[in-house]
Amino acid sequence: SNDPLVVFTPSGKRGHFPTGTPILTAARQLGVDLDSVCGGRGICSKCQITPSYGEFSKHGVTAKDGALSEWNSVEQRYKDKRGLIDGRRLGCQATVQGDIVIDVPPESQVHRQVVRKAASARAMVMDPAVRSYYVEVAEPDMHTPTGDLERLGIALKEQWDIDDITAGMSVLRKLQPVLRKGKWTCTVVLHKGHQDTVHRILDIHPGFDETRLYGLAIDLGSTTIAAHLTDLRNGTVVASSGIMNPQIRFGEDLMSRVSYVMMNPGGDVKMTNAVRTALNALTDTLSAEAEIQPSQIMEAVFVCNPVMHHLLLGIDPVELGQAPFALATSKSLSLHVADLDLTSMNPAARVFILPCIAGHVGADAAAVALSEAPYEQDELTLVVDVGTNAEILLGNKTQVLACSSPTGPAFEGAQISSGQRAAPGAIERIEIDPTTKEPRFQVIGSDIWSNDAGFDAAIATTGVTGICGSGIIEAVAEMRMAGLLDSKGLIGAPEQTGTTRCIPDGRTHSYVIHDGTADGGPLITVTQGDIRAIQLAKSALYAGARLLMDEMGTDTVERVVLAGAFGAHISPKHAMVLGMIPDVPLDKVTSAGNAAGTGARMALCSVEARTSIEKTVREITKVETAIEPKFQEHFVNANAIPHATDPFTILRS
Ligand code: FES
Repeated sequence: SNDPLVVFTPSGKRGHFPTGTPILTAARQLGVDLDSVCGGRGICSKCQITPSYGEFSKHGVTAKDGALSEWNSVEQRYKDKRGLIDGRRLGCQATVQGDIVIDVPPESQVHRQVVRKAASARAMVMDPAVRSYYVEVAEPDMHTPTGDLERLGIALKEQWDIDDITAGMSVLRKLQPVLRKGKWTCTVVLHKGHQDTVHRILDIHPGFDETRLYGLAIDLGSTTIAAHLTDLRNGTVVASSGIMNPQIRFGEDLMSRVSYVMMNPGGDVKMTNAVRTALNALTDTLSAEAEIQPSQIMEAVFVCNPVMHHLLLGIDPVELGQAPFALATSKSLSLHVADLDLTSMNPAARVFILPCIAGHVGADAAAVALSEAPYEQDELTLVVDVGTNAEILLGNKTQVLACSSPTGPAFEGAQISSGQRAAPGAIERIEIDPTTKEPRFQVIGSDIWSNDAGFDAAIATTGVTGICGSGIIEAVAEMRMAGLLDSKGLIGAPEQTGTTRCIPDGRTHSYVIHDGTADGGPLITVTQGDIRAIQLAKSALYAGARLLMDEMGTDTVERVVLAGAFGAHISPKHAMVLGMIPDVPLDKVTSAGNAAGTGARMALCSVEARTSIEKTVREITKVETAIEPKFQEHFVNANAIPHATDPFTILRS
C-alpha cells in the first residue's frame, strides 16, 4: 500500500491508513487500546499519545517531522485550559501524514492492566459494567418527530457503536432539561452486565461530565464485613474498611443464625435489616474517607456464603439448615440498589452478586476460585480460605472440587479467652523457648520481639491487648513444640512441664503468655478451652481438605494456598504443626491475602471476569461435608496435634 504506515507501541499493532486519518480512528480500526470518553471531540484528553520521530529500525519505520498533522486549535485550547505534557498530542486531533510510530501511554489505555498486590499476582483487566460516554445529540425538528431518548440512542449508535439502550423513569424525567442545558451534548452513565443485552442508562449529565465513578467490592462474612471502594476507571482501591457483622448477636456461626430464624419467627427480617443498615454505615464511612459523594458510587459487588447471601437478599435461610441444602437460586444476580435498601450510593446504582457453588459453598468460594484460579494450575493445589466457615478448593487444570467446612469463629480470635480482632496491640507472633519454656511475642503495630521482662517502646503506645487469629495458631503450635501440650491437646501441670507459667485454672491448666505486670496490661493466657476451640476448628478444616483429597483419589497435594482476611498472616509452619493443612514442603505453602475480597474486586472491575466465574462455577464439583460420613471420621482423626493421620514430620525435622 502507498498509504502511510502507522505502528502502535507497546502493542506492536500496525496498519496502513490514508493521509488525514485521525490517530484515534486508526487505533480503533486496529483494535489498539486507546481511550476516549468524548468520542474524539477534543474534550476529554483521554486519547493522549506520544509520537516518535527518527529511526525505528525495530519497528521498520522511519518517521520524519511532519508525519503527524500540525498542532491544531482544539489541542491548543485544551493545552491552555487544562495543560498537556510536552510531546503529547490528542489522538483524536492529530492525523496521519506519513509513516509514524505512536506510543500509547498507560493512562490512555482503557483496559489497563492492574497488577494485584497479593503474592499470587494475576493481572486484572479493566472492563467495568459501568462507564460514562460523552455524546452530541441531534436537535429535534418539526419534520422528524422522534423523542429525545430515540435521538440519544441514534447518537450513541453513531458515536460509540452502542446498540440498545433503556432508561428508567428517573432518567426520563431529567432527560429533556439535561439535553437542553448541555446544548444537545451530554454525558451518559451506562451499565451493561455480563448477561444483559441492553445498556441501561443509570444517569445523565449536561455537557461533558468528568465526575469519577466508583464501585464497592464487598466481602460479606459471617463475622466481619470488608469493603473496598474502587475507582471504576483504573481499579485503584481508594478506601478500604471493615466492620463486625451485626448479625453476630443473633448467633456466632451460620447454623446458629439459621436456628435463630427457626426459633424466632421474623428473625430473618431482623437479621436482614441489621446487615443492610451496617452496609449503609460502612458505605458512608468509605465515602467520607475517600472524600467522594455517595452519588458517585454506581455499583456494588458482593461475595458471601449462602446463608449471608439469603439474609442479604431478604430470603428466609431455613432451607440451607437442612439436607438437601437447597438454595433459592445459585445463579449470579444483577439487581437495583433499592432491592436491597442500600441507600448510601447513587439511587440508580446496580448490585451484582457472584454465583453460589452449592447450598454450603457460596459466592465467597466462587470469588476465591476467580482470584486463585486453581483450574489454571499444573500442580494439584489446595486453596483454603480460613474464616468462620472455611472455603476449600482442590484442583488443577483437569478438575476442581470445592467444599465448605464449619470451622467456627475461633480462627478469627472469637471464642478464645484472650482473643481479639487483628488490631494494634494484638499478639500476632509467638515463640516459646523449648528449654526455658519462656515466650516472646510481637504485637501488631511493632515488629520487635518482646516478653514480660523487656518491652519495646512501640508497645507502650498500643499496649498488649489480646491475641489475634494468627497469634493463637502460633501459640498452640509453639506450646506443642515446647512440650507444654501433649498430642491430645492437654496443657501440662507445672510439675510435668517444668514451668510456673502453666498455672492451675479450675480442673485444667492455662499457659501465661503475658502477665501484664511490666505494662499494667491484662493477663493474657491460653486456656484449655482455647486449645479445644482451636482443635475443633483445625479438625474441621483438615477434614474438609481430606474429604476433597479422598474424592480426588489422592493422599498428597502439591501446593497449599492460605487465604482469608487473616490467611495472609498465618505462618505455614505453625499451620502444619497444628495440623490445619496436609503436609507439603514449606516452600509450597503461600499466602493469598483476602482472596474472596480480591475476587469481588475482579468481578467489580471486569464484566469478562463475571462471565468467566459463571462458567467456572458450573464446572466445579461440589462435595457436601454435612452428609458425608467420611467427614466425621476425618474430623475425629484430625483432633490430635498434629493429627493422627499424618506423621510428626515437622516435629522431627
Ligand atoms: Fe476525547 Fe480526544 S477523544 S479528547
